Amino acid sequence: MSVAKKEYKRITVKSLIEMKEHGEKISMLTAYDYSMAKIVDSAGIDVILVGDSASNVMAGHETTLPITLDQMIYHASSVIRGVKRALVTVDLPFGSYQSDPKEALRSAIRIMKESGAHAIKLEGGKEIKESVKKILNAGIPVMGHLGLTPQSIYKFGSYTVRAKQEEEAAKLKEDAIFLEKMGCFAIVLEKIPAQLASEVAESVSIPIIGIGAGNGVDGQVLVLHDLLGMTYEFSPRFLRRYMNLYEDMSNAISQYVDDVKDGDFPNDSEQY
Ligand code: KIV
Repeated sequence: MSVAKKEYKRITVKSLIEMKEHGEKISMLTAYDYSMAKIVDSAGIDVILVGDSASNVMAGHETTLPITLDQMIYHASSVIRGVKRALVTVDLPFGSYQSDPKEALRSAIRIMKESGAHAIKLEGGKEIKESVKKILNAGIPVMGHLGLTPQSIYKFGSYTVRAKQEEEAAKLKEDAIFLEKMGCFAIVLEKIPAQLASEVAESVSIPIIGIGAGNGVDGQVLVLHDLLGMTYEFSPRFLRRYMNLYEDMSNAISQYVDDVKDGDFPNDSEQY
């Protein structure tokens, strides 16, 4: 059932909590550069995530681990220049917050100061408590991320569904309540059973944004390149592709190559 949408000129962390209160679902997508961010923002998305998935889809790495803080700041500042309405949240990359809370705060401050972003996201629950506390105390909005946390991929060993066992599910529920109590404004839940995700969404008053976490949560997030069908080799069950851009782009480029080779481009009206 869809709910009447309130018009927001600019999305803030408060707007998102209000959306949850009114039962309006929150839309969130990744973007990593100016041109895409401009399209995503003007299409009406609520939250743009400058995800560390840039490590995969922009840089071609197998995991999110190699991307650096400087690279995240470069992506985030490009995105910010294209955005008028959405709340822009940026991932703290692997290695920029796990070693000590002071470093976590320094990394978060660099992102906010150098990119102009509106919030940061980091992966984990109670184990990163001190870092979350320090960042929040500095007045920086924090989004949590639980369930499948790709920065811990070598601990998990695979990208399969998380928290299927009671013990892990119980810890996840506790972590979500803990992050809310700490003052986080939202939490991403990645690749966990739908039933568990909706129980978590009911247990907290901050928005729960799901990816592969079913429809009982307060909003959804996808990686833009997956939604557009640019990453054709990546096909998890949770992904809905809205386009087949890989094929469309490939056809357009092949056509251009043929036109150049055949001497068909440029024609008389395409020159001075
Ligand atoms: O980096 C990312 O794109 C993410 C989303 C998958 C939530 O963290």
